[in-house]
Amino acid sequence: MMPALSYEKRRGEIETYFDRTAMENWARLTSTAPVSGIRATVRAGREEMRNHLLSWLPEDMHGMRLLDAGCGTGALALAAAARGAIVTAIDLSPQLIALAAERATGQPGASRIDFHAGDMLDPGFGRIDYVVCMDSIIHYHAVNAINALRQLAGRTERAVLFTFAPRTLLLGGMLSLGKLFPRGERSPAIEPLREARLRETFSIGRSARVSAGFYISQAMELVTC
Ligand SMILES: C[S@@+](CC[C@H](N)C(=O)[O-])C[C@H]1O[C@@H](n2cnc3c(N)ncnc32)[C@H](O)[C@@H]1O
Repeated sequence: MMPALSYEKRRGEIETYFDRTAMENWARLTSTAPVSGIRATVRAGREEMRNHLLSWLPEDMHGMRLLDAGCGTGALALAAAARGAIVTAIDLSPQLIALAAERATGQPGASRIDFHAGDMLDPGFGRIDYVVCMDSIIHYHAVNAINALRQLAGRTERAVLFTFAPRTLLLGGMLSLGKLFPRGERSPAIEPLREARLRETFSIGRSARVSAGFYISQAMELVTC
């Protein structure tokens, strides 16, 4: 495992990556525009994962508050708002937030979403019923990822739904493969987490793993009520 960068330093790298280096690729991946074979597996895997997470949320979310923590282009925020939730959608990248707001315009429930550029750990959001971190803590060292989950759980009435990169041989191989790309094109490394460590630390409910080509991610429900 890589040595822990401070949370703030890592956050800065992630913001630069998503707001500048990868902004256009990310916009395309999360659209319906054609993508290459590898990216198509990632798109399909991410859709499967989003559906898992949504299936763990109530069908009727009227009167509930949800924080989409690291919302990217906002697909999950929009789905939760369409179920009636009052949503705060936050991301480090102002450009992704602008795109998320643009994509939401005119969609069902969009007026219930408050889009913000900033840090998901900002305590100013007050108490929340559900937090969802889909693929947003995967770039942080285990110590910082667990600390972030602890802070979010402390403000959450019902559950924090999050994904992490499970420590598997396959993922290890893919991460090594990623190092073959020129430095400028690499994303900030994904930092795998041990499932056992999460289970020792938190009260975990449901769990589901998605393994679709180049997308390997595991979802967990951290129960806070
Ligand atoms: C892999 S993308 C996933 C986006 C979205 N959740 C989805 O699944 O489509 C990870 C996102 O998390 C955001 N992120 C990472 N750390 C964050 C933090 N501390 N506060 C807010 N957003 C953060 C990044 O800017 C990036 O847009």
